[in-house]
Amino acid sequence: MNNDIEEVLFDQEQIHEAAVRLGQTITKDYAGRKPLVLSVLKGAYLWTADLVREIDLYVDLEFIKISSYHGGVTSSNEIQLVTDVQSDVAGRDVLIIEDIVDTGQSLRFLKDLLKDRGANSVQVATFLDKKGGRKIEIDADYVGFDVRNEFVVGYGLDYAGLYRNLPYVGILKKDIYS
Ligand code: IMP
Ligand code: MG
Repeated sequence: MNNDIEEVLFDQEQIHEAAVRLGQTITKDYAGRKPLVLSVLKGAYLWTADLVREIDLYVDLEFIKISSYHGGVTSSNEIQLVTDVQSDVAGRDVLIIEDIVDTGQSLRFLKDLLKDRGANSVQVATFLDKKGGRKIEIDADYVGFDVRNEFVVGYGLDYAGLYRNLPYVGILKKDIYS
């Protein structure tokens, strides 16, 4: 599996530092509140596990599953709600945890859904931000790392369902998907 990676972008130590940095900021920003942390499956599973352990607050943890990719390396315009959140978000301060913001379409879909359901506030903590991929003007509130406009895998992010278990983030060799 490691041989399929062209270049390592962020290693385990850098990722840990990002989780600590964001966790401390979120702890300060949400002081006195009990946010509903909403992890977006599957991509955000490792980032969620690491980030929530750096947040020193009472939080509720929920999961939602959406799909935007169909196995390839480009987003589709159609977002599907695969598994809905299991609790009421009305009146809650929701903190969405995402793996990566690329076109922005998934984030738009999620923010609209939560706002429609009466969330008090909706903010986003994304592991990666691929600003060069944006089709919709939307930004995350907390960003682990900016990434250039290339297809990356590892630490939750997949290609065709694989590489989610890589402990670091890297660029996939082009011959793997071309
Ligand atoms: P969107 O294009 O902002 O809607 O992003 C949708 C989803 O596409 C993200 O949550 C990721 O799961 C996935 N995605 C976007 N860019 C990459 C990438 O470089 N590698 C793996 N998954 C990606
Ligand atoms: Mg995702």
